[in-house]
Amino acid sequence: MTTLPKQTLRVGFVGTGFIAGFHLKSMVGVRNVEVTGVYSRSPENRSRFAEEVKALELGRCRPHDSLESLVSAGDIDAIWILSPNYTRLEVMRVLHREIQTGRSKVFAVACEKPLARTVAEAREMLRLAEDAGLNHGYLENQVFATPVQRGKEIIWRRAVSATGRPYLARAAEEHSGPHEPWFWQGDKQGGGVLSDMMCHSVEVARHLLTAPGAPRNSLKVKAVNGTVANLKWTRPGYADQLRHRFGAEVDYHNRPAEDFARATVMLEDENGQDLMIEATTSWAYVGAGLRIQLELLGPEYALEYNSLGAGLKIFLSRAVQGSEGEDLVEKQNAEQGLMPVLEDEAGVYGYTDENRHMVECFRKGIKPVETFEDGVAVVEILMGLYRSAEIGATLHFPAAELDNYVPLVARTGA
Ligand SMILES: NC(=O)c1ccc[n+]([C@@H]2O[C@H](COP(=O)([O-])OP(=O)(O)OC[C@H]3O[C@@H](n4cnc5c(N)ncnc54)[C@H](OP(=O)(O)O)[C@@H]3O)[C@@H](O)[C@H]2O)c1
Repeated sequence: MTTLPKQTLRVGFVGTGFIAGFHLKSMVGVRNVEVTGVYSRSPENRSRFAEEVKALELGRCRPHDSLESLVSAGDIDAIWILSPNYTRLEVMRVLHREIQTGRSKVFAVACEKPLARTVAEAREMLRLAEDAGLNHGYLENQVFATPVQRGKEIIWRRAVSATGRPYLARAAEEHSGPHEPWFWQGDKQGGGVLSDMMCHSVEVARHLLTAPGAPRNSLKVKAVNGTVANLKWTRPGYADQLRHRFGAEVDYHNRPAEDFARATVMLEDENGQDLMIEATTSWAYVGAGLRIQLELLGPEYALEYNSLGAGLKIFLSRAVQGSEGEDLVEKQNAEQGLMPVLEDEAGVYGYTDENRHMVECFRKGIKPVETFEDGVAVVEILMGLYRSAEIGATLHFPAAELDNYVPLVARTGA
């Protein structure tokens, strides 16, 4: 039994890809943490990652060649699950087994969004975590994004106290498409853009509408209505582009997943008052880069945020020619012209405060504000939206039919 609080939380990473890089960068702004282990299937990736940890002076990171080795290492307290969606459950099963047999002393786990591909998988993630006695955190960075934290604090303190609660949250996250083939494959990822990005939008909107300090289930989902569409990547030239870039396994001529989704989520507060979330997401947005747009509206006030409306802009003339990169903004689409720049992406997108929160909660044995329970609730909404889109009708909650539901684009052989 570990005695809490621990002075320093020793974290092990599962995954060394895109999001692992973001989390590592953000850890520089987190106190009382060391990154002491990493598991990747590739020797090059795990050594490279361990070297990066060393360069950032974030601890002595040991590369592990198996999950079992990572979770049973004597110098790991908590696991950050940063591997693809289709690997989640297996990672949790190994962690659960190693704890139950006494080989692992890990006492906390954090998992990237979405918690799982289906409601059944998400509930199993939660069950395994609780059964193993783990403190658990759901990594939804937008809840910790600095504009969200600051905006929510001002709206609820100044405006809500004077004129009443907000009733409408709008959220959109859009970019030009993911970077790895598995994201595009419905069965591996769990769906298309609805599963990949709507998870952010519904949770940040739910968070903005929830009174500070109130439990997330103080708002009840009454009904959901979703639409999915294929706007860009099924066009023959773009489907060919995907095949050329990712190989035959990404076949948008014959097996596409949606690249656009919209959602209406109808909620009810503690007093039976109606609230609404409107969300849209797409992989078909070609602007400067990733765009997050948020609004929170109430009787006498409005909050607005657009991640591309950055304070810092850089103009590069046509004479400035260089290689493609993501050094100005995530999912960058150009290297010339007037470009927005996020000076501190890890901070603005919320990774720094998210990791600081998780580390402090785990160190002290406190329940985080985002747990696997929230991850389950998000997946229930997402599956409701897929089902609504499939039947072309609004779906009322609770909906038992979601217990074993798999989105059309994720059904094997569909
Ligand atoms: N919060 C956000 O905004 C955000 C943004 C992007 C992604 N994400 C989430 O983060 C997760 C990872 O996404 P990513 O963009 O980092 O993907 P990625 O770039 O494809 O990286 C995935 C990593 O997982 C590892 N991996 C693959 N199969 C594995 C397995 N069977 N067991 C253990 N590790 C395995 C890969 O490492 P090796 O090949 O070296 O083993 C790779 O390092 C996804 O769930 C995604 O939804 C969140």
